[in-house]
Amino acid sequence: MTDIEFICESVADIETDLLVTYYFENGPSIEVPGLNEAAKAVDAKSCTGARTVLPGTGTKARKIALVGAKADELHSRRNSDFSNGIELEGTGIHRHLAAIGTRGLEAKNVVLAGKYENEDDVIQAGIGALLGCYTIQKYGDEKVTPLDQLTICVPQGLNTHTMAKRIKVLASSMMMIMDLVNRSPNDLYPAKFATYAQQAIAGLPIEAEIWDENKLAEEGCGGILAVGLGSDRGSRLVKLSYAPQNASKKISLIGKGITFDSGGISIKPAKGMEAMKSDMTGAATVLATTVAAAVLGLNVKIDTYLALAENMPGGRAQRPSDVITMRGGKTVEVINTDAEGRLVMGDALALAAETDTDAIVDVATLTGAQIVGLGERTAGVMGTANMRDAIVASAAQVGEAMWSAPLPSYLLDSLKSDVADIANSGTRAGGMMVAGVFLQEFVADKPWAHIDIAGPSYNDGSPWGANNKGATGMSMLTLVNWAESLA
Ligand code: BES
Ligand code: MN
Ligand code: ZN
Repeated sequence: MTDIEFICESVADIETDLLVTYYFENGPSIEVPGLNEAAKAVDAKSCTGARTVLPGTGTKARKIALVGAKADELHSRRNSDFSNGIELEGTGIHRHLAAIGTRGLEAKNVVLAGKYENEDDVIQAGIGALLGCYTIQKYGDEKVTPLDQLTICVPQGLNTHTMAKRIKVLASSMMMIMDLVNRSPNDLYPAKFATYAQQAIAGLPIEAEIWDENKLAEEGCGGILAVGLGSDRGSRLVKLSYAPQNASKKISLIGKGITFDSGGISIKPAKGMEAMKSDMTGAATVLATTVAAAVLGLNVKIDTYLALAENMPGGRAQRPSDVITMRGGKTVEVINTDAEGRLVMGDALALAAETDTDAIVDVATLTGAQIVGLGERTAGVMGTANMRDAIVASAAQVGEAMWSAPLPSYLLDSLKSDVADIANSGTRAGGMMVAGVFLQEFVADKPWAHIDIAGPSYNDGSPWGANNKGATGMSMLTLVNWAESLA
């Protein structure tokens, strides 16, 4: 793991592969002889997120990356200012700009010298620098080693121990999500995901229980089982429990873990289907969140449920018009086997709602309608009003884009079924919220938030800001921040 150090002055004297600094309209944010002239000579751009790479002019760095920024916007807490494709959201801007600074330059040793005012700024920048160095692991290649050393130039008086720990823990949790999501689905199927989860918590104060298909049947988890019927790779439910002794609150985290979503019998079109290996991102996210919470020693109990299944159209697959019985006894008419996420989530939500939990948060790549409604970069948040708003506020604090949506009860009408309590697919209009009202049927009026991350969790296009190609790891920072606010 990367060694992290902090300094308060003389960045120019450090021997390093790469020095990353901000480039404002009136010049670089660090004072180094000759750097301003060198930047002007190559016409360096100061618009937010632009990058200019120079030789290490006036420093002991091999290269200098100048990252465009607006000095007066770095510390504003605005929510929706868009500049050069980068959303400026409080401290999150430092994460994006640092990632832009390090991305693709293959540095093993980096010095970060932006303009940071407080610990949050530094933590975000540190995370960003590490994320920018992330590369997708290629099958057959040797494992790529992460950055060896990261040195951050910080104002005096900040707690360097906490900052180093948080950067390491949060960045490695985000990379855990990326590694899991970027793996191919023949390699990562439900049982293997469950084993991975067991390994990920080794040595941590987290208990794990894995339910295989027999146990799922015994426990009445008809949704998770039905979705997995068309696959030769059996469904699993992983239950994790982190229970620090003095914690007064208990939260439940639930993640959608479809290791591949072909659509099942309601099969998806071929174009773009490969992206459906990412349909387990919610499960990866709540696993990584639980690990981060345990390593950081958060003082809140966490029960985590990974609802794992592969949605395939095999000979035993569920069919449109099947009626299944979910955990808790509700019957569901399966109109569309591609609306499988709500089936696995319904069981897991019901399990959580049976416990004495104070709040439930679920994370799922649940609907294409989320992408239509809010775009590729903003997650949709639904649920009980207080919980929904708390998650959206928490997201803004860490610079993740989330927006709240209502759960109007009339939408439930479109989920009426003649043969079951509820159908799994209804009106196309407001599809993200239709899925939300379906899930609401399983939470027994507990305080609950549902985060639909279909768009922002997976980046089909080129990297932008701190978001790499493929999995972005988004929503983990929000969950940790929110859990911490309860502790
Ligand atoms: N996993 C998909 C949702 C999705 C789509 C995630 C695109 C990421 C990118 C989900 O299981 C699904 O197929 N939803 C259907 C629901 C419909 C059949 C009611 C959808 O959104 O089309
Ligand atoms: Mn689907
Ligand atoms: Zn799905």
